[in-house]
Amino acid sequence: MNSKINDLLARVQEFHPKAAAEIEDFRIRILGKKGELTSLMEEFKTVAPERKRELGQSLNALKQAALAKIAALKEEFADAVASTPAIEDMSRPGTAETLGSRHPISIVKNEIIDIFSRLGYTVAEGPEIEDDWHVFSALNFPPEHPARDMQDTFFIEKTPDILLRTHTSSIQVRTMEHQKPPIRVICPGRVFRNEAISYRAHCIFHQVEGLYIDKGVSFADLKQSLLYFAKEMFGEQTRIRMRPSYFPFTEPSAEVDVSCNLCGGKGCNVCKGTGWLEILGCGMVDPNVLEANGIDSHEYSGFAFGMGVERIAMLKFGVKDLRLYFENDVRFLQQFESKL
Ligand code: PHE
Repeated sequence: MNSKINDLLARVQEFHPKAAAEIEDFRIRILGKKGELTSLMEEFKTVAPERKRELGQSLNALKQAALAKIAALKEEFADAVASTPAIEDMSRPGTAETLGSRHPISIVKNEIIDIFSRLGYTVAEGPEIEDDWHVFSALNFPPEHPARDMQDTFFIEKTPDILLRTHTSSIQVRTMEHQKPPIRVICPGRVFRNEAISYRAHCIFHQVEGLYIDKGVSFADLKQSLLYFAKEMFGEQTRIRMRPSYFPFTEPSAEVDVSCNLCGGKGCNVCKGTGWLEILGCGMVDPNVLEANGIDSHEYSGFAFGMGVERIAMLKFGVKDLRLYFENDVRFLQQFESKL
């Protein structure tokens, strides 16, 4: 048995693999269930008691030597792999890094901001997690309004109500808190509504809202500002029309349509044959809202408007499914690179 141990020890010491895969084969051959060392261990059980001590020590030394050798070889080969240069031919051209592009929602949001900044508006921002006052109460929402229901709004806490803002009008309230008229701000941001996700609705989307308060601001000013916006966004030939509507915070209120930029107003399947596309809501700020925010409604008047960025981007780029904006498939996003 002694000679078998010495023979195996010599083979362990002389083992010089050429490839990393040989190390594992070697380990199995020696230390595996049917390995040579394992069968020596079996044999050891049958040796005479007076020889156990000496042979046991040699066997143990052999096992330690085998384990140490395998560990050392593994390390050596791992280092070798890590330091092998991946490219043998250093004169070959490298792989080009592809450059990212702006998300279509950012492109359109920036364009909206750009257009209104030419009319003297500045950007205001606010938190996405809001309280009842800034999203509803300061905006003249009656207590029983459906938007205050869990089915329409994501509440984080009840009493006091803490919620995800459902529109960026909350930023307008915050602006009125710390700024005296004249006020001229646009409020871009993400908003949240408890809606089932489909090709035309999402529970997260982006808005840009605007607020203008000064002495003598009229509905004619509102109409002219929005006509300017529509022409800048969709082209000089664009016309707008206003339809009466209702919002708790504006009186009178209106929905604004633009003439369909695909068929020029003749009627097509995008505008469903009407020649018009709805793009935003607006109105004269309700005197109740001015008063609730510490502004004298006899001295000042104002208008407000709000639009969904996804909606404008869909109309501008002809995107038919709103979910594409959130999936971040590069094949979709790459199409907007040239629009920067
Ligand atoms: N806040 C409204 C909404 O989210 C949009 C709006 C803003 C309408 C300002 C009128 C005036 O739907």
